Amino acid sequence: MADPVPPRNPSLQGGWSGRFSEPVSDLVKRYTASVAFDRRLAAVDIAGSIAHARMLTEVGVLAPADLEAIERGMETIRGEIGRGEFEWSLDLEDVHLNIERRLTTLVGDAGKRLHTARSRNDQVATDIRLWLRGEIDSLSAQLAGLRRALLDVAAEHAATIMPGFTHLQVAQPVTFGHHLLAYEAMLARDMERFVDCRRRVNRLPLGSAALAGTSFPIDRDRVARELGFEGLCTNSLDAVSDRDFALEFTAAAALVMLHLSRFAEELILWMSPRFAFIALADRFCTGSSIMPQKKNPDVPELVRGKTGRVVGDLVGLLMLMKGQPLAYNKDNQEDKEPLFDAVDTLADTLAVMTDLVAGGIRVDAARMRAAASEGFATATDLADYLVKQGTPFRDAHEAVARAVRHAETKGVDLADLPLPELQAFAPGIGADVFAVLTLDGSVASRAHPGGTAPAQVRAAIDAARATLKDP
Ligand code: ARG
Repeated sequence: MADPVPPRNPSLQGGWSGRFSEPVSDLVKRYTASVAFDRRLAAVDIAGSIAHARMLTEVGVLAPADLEAIERGMETIRGEIGRGEFEWSLDLEDVHLNIERRLTTLVGDAGKRLHTARSRNDQVATDIRLWLRGEIDSLSAQLAGLRRALLDVAAEHAATIMPGFTHLQVAQPVTFGHHLLAYEAMLARDMERFVDCRRRVNRLPLGSAALAGTSFPIDRDRVARELGFEGLCTNSLDAVSDRDFALEFTAAAALVMLHLSRFAEELILWMSPRFAFIALADRFCTGSSIMPQKKNPDVPELVRGKTGRVVGDLVGLLMLMKGQPLAYNKDNQEDKEPLFDAVDTLADTLAVMTDLVAGGIRVDAARMRAAASEGFATATDLADYLVKQGTPFRDAHEAVARAVRHAETKGVDLADLPLPELQAFAPGIGADVFAVLTLDGSVASRAHPGGTAPAQVRAAIDAARATLKDP
């Protein structure tokens, strides 16, 4: 292949320069370039290029000597990037053109042949999928770690009683272990969503070229196998243009953040002296520059705050796609920053929350129990007691409501009312009622799967641990 006429201006050094008669302005160059952020795709870009080159050699499009030169050059480039010596150039727009140009500088014509039967459109779609697949795997491992940490704390507090809330009003007693298992269950579903989404991420776009495929006798299955893809993207137009796989991932990531945000909100509430259910280790808090007494739960607050960011990343990606005609449009270059941000924010959040759960929460079991005994948390238990004696539930509900009102005027709990006073509301009440009116009796009676009884909480912990293989 003969060298093209050298560009008259250094800013015409992209992969398309011959067609243009004037250089882009510095502003346009900066506006259109993605190398500042897409260079983090370098490792997968190189892997994709090598797989492509090997396939082209196998089908006879590239000579073995070219392949050997490409592999050698890419090895050098990998080393340069790894050591931080690679010179990234804005003139070369993106990671793909930067690497290709360096390859050509290192190995000559073989480098120029690499882009045969390929376009940056299928190249970048392949890169993002490869990169995201790796990130999904590491985020899934992080999720598993956080789930393990939650299970450990839940096991410690399988019988620690706290008030359960609805409408943020004391509702019924639950165990702290059971409460934590609610978050564990959310994160378990989040992991399932990652596994499911990974299957659709893990399909190969390469071979679609710019949009219509290529006239070269390519072997897409071979490339897929080498890169560990489970299948091929079936339509070339779709393959280069849709980013639904990234959207789906970001939606799953936003859900994880949402779950962690709810948990963070509870940590913040529980840490407030009004609740004082927990204390957070100092390393997760900061002080105030003006109020010497303050200890603020900054980490959970930021988990809550950063959730908005990831939801923003999701909305950004949704809007990015909505008006695009087939096939590839440069709009798609804007997929990377939100996707990277969602991955980075989630990875940091999972790391910090795992640390926090694994040793940052000190539980004040006495405060939790005291709070559970306020607010008539066992009123439902009394109603259930009457129902078991044959009272229809609605009548039992009414009788207990009147008993609660009476206790409230006296300023005592239901369990503190003498038996005759209780019997004034429901004559059938016997001395055995006090067993159901206690907090421990209440939680122990909810012993079915999904219930809050300590025995059930321990069984749920065992079941969850069994699904989490060791790392
Ligand atoms: N940097 C581009 C992107 O991220 C690569 C694909 C460019 N393709 C093109 N035809 N301009 O999407």
